[in-house]
Amino acid sequence: MFKSVEDVGRRFRDARYIASRRISTVVYLATRMGRPVLVEGPAGVGKTELAKTLAEVTSARLIRLQCYEGLDEGKALYEWKYAKQLLYTQLLRERIGELIHDAPSLPDAVARIAGQDDAFFSYRFLSPRPLLQAIQSDDPVVLLVDEIDKAEPEFEAFLLEVLSDFQVSVPELGTISAKHIPLVVLTSNNARELSDGLKRRCLHLFIDFPTPADELAIIRLKVPEVSERLAAAVVTAVQRIRAMDLRKPPSVSESIDWARSLVILNAEQLDPEVVESTLTMLVKYEKDLERVKGALDKVLAEVK
Ligand SMILES: Nc1ncnc2c1ncn2[C@@H]1O[C@H](COP(=O)(O)OP(=O)(O)O)[C@@H](O)[C@H]1O
Ligand SMILES: [Mg+2]
Repeated sequence: MFKSVEDVGRRFRDARYIASRRISTVVYLATRMGRPVLVEGPAGVGKTELAKTLAEVTSARLIRLQCYEGLDEGKALYEWKYAKQLLYTQLLRERIGELIHDAPSLPDAVARIAGQDDAFFSYRFLSPRPLLQAIQSDDPVVLLVDEIDKAEPEFEAFLLEVLSDFQVSVPELGTISAKHIPLVVLTSNNARELSDGLKRRCLHLFIDFPTPADELAIIRLKVPEVSERLAAAVVTAVQRIRAMDLRKPPSVSESIDWARSLVILNAEQLDPEVVESTLTMLVKYEKDLERVKGALDKVLAEVK
């Protein structure tokens, strides 16, 4: 799949993702060892994009399970198409009537209908959700379990079970086993602590804000219209703003947006006026905004 750690880095870059040495190493090991990767880190540092890029460079289908509070097994694994089952029983009312019209007793009638269960609990009426889609897939897939920290711990325990054997038992249909073990990427923004079991099962990757060199590469890759000089100025300013004690420091996605807006405004350098009028691209809270405006001299010192 990948020849080496360097090969991961190269192919990710070709797919417009800058993978640090640490990222490339964990991705390489995960593919060699067949282990899921748990990616943690602040919002906007490329966790979701990592999974998408992994699917792209390995030519695998991406299946995404977006987690949220209240996510349950049914929504993640499979549901029966209840409305369709109901419709079919109504359309088949006469046939069902024939089946039971000479049943001597109610229990007999029930038993005869129960004998037809297979017709109504078959793949025809099964609606596979992301986890089952990943297990059933004929082709290799990357399974992205995004923002697992938003789901409840009960769901995490269930997920751990699925990740340990990649098979699912549907009582009416039997056991379904994966044809290919999916490459699994879980992400978390650390809204809550994850279980030890899940951490043990996964290779752990913490993605922090990028180094200045990596951030420069990301901006030049994502906003090719920006001059090298302006991109370097953006990186320096963003790194300084990040070092301030803000409620929400700007992330990579915000530096990309900022660079893009500067290009649209035809800014050639970071003048205090243009910076002030575009600062909301970077900093989203009023208090943070005031603080950065108050320190603009320092943020822009020797940056042109
Ligand atoms: N290392 C990187 N290389 C390329 N683009 C990146 C990188 N890190 C972040 N980005 C960009 O930043 C944005 C946010 O990334 P995303 O994966 O949604 O963040 P997260 O899932 O960590 O919140 C995306 O547009 C992504 O392309
Ligand atoms: Mg994300």
